[in-house]
Amino acid sequence: MSRFTFRRLHPTDMPLLHDWLNRPHIRAWWDEPGSLDEVSATFMELTGDDADTLGYIALLDGEAAGFIQSYVVMGSGGGWWEDETDPGARGIDLFLADGERLGQGLGSALLDDFCALLFSDPAVSKVQADPTPANGRAIRSYQRAGFQDCGEVVTPDGPARLMVRPRVA
Ligand SMILES: CC(C)(COP(=O)(O)OP(=O)(O)OC[C@H]1O[C@@H](n2cnc3c(N)ncnc32)[C@H](O)[C@@H]1OP(=O)(O)O)[C@@H](O)C(=O)NCCC(=O)NCCS
Repeated sequence: MSRFTFRRLHPTDMPLLHDWLNRPHIRAWWDEPGSLDEVSATFMELTGDDADTLGYIALLDGEAAGFIQSYVVMGSGGGWWEDETDPGARGIDLFLADGERLGQGLGSALLDDFCALLFSDPAVSKVQADPTPANGRAIRSYQRAGFQDCGEVVTPDGPARLMVRPRVA
């Protein structure tokens, strides 16, 4: 049974995000968050309806439990995904807020539910993620959620494992 729902990131979520991004299990794999003002400067633009990257709060049984963002892969700019020609490809990044609840299947459940949301748009053909090769837990969680390991790629942030979940007709 699906337990995760998603609501769009809102400007009032910035203090919550700042708190989450400073938690050790997230800092280990995400960029240094900086001050609340710096977090706001980065994430406010994810709140708009026509933003390039859309931010979401993941709700577990109605409670805020994590963050996930999605973007159109093709035309990302900045040297990202320059070979992508599929306008239906979406990219994602995520974290769970509670470091004491990792490795219990919540991440893969969140990913599965979020893919269902993305695939509810018939224009979406595949969902991809690019965890750092050292992030074995994230890679395994993606696999549990039906993502295929497409090997190592080089991104502007360095080496990554390309994980892809194609639409199943
Ligand atoms: C990545 C994240 C969302 C995954 O969610 P999760 O609930 O912890 O992961 P799941 O329980 O769904 O799956 C974890 C799997 O990895 C395995 N695992 C745990 N640590 C591992 C490691 N160091 N190396 C390899 N596999 C590992 C677990 O055993 C489990 O696999 P299994 O069920 O086959 O035994 C969560 O750990 C998180 O938020 N991490 C911090 C931020 C982050 O890394 N974000 C991803 C950036 S791409």
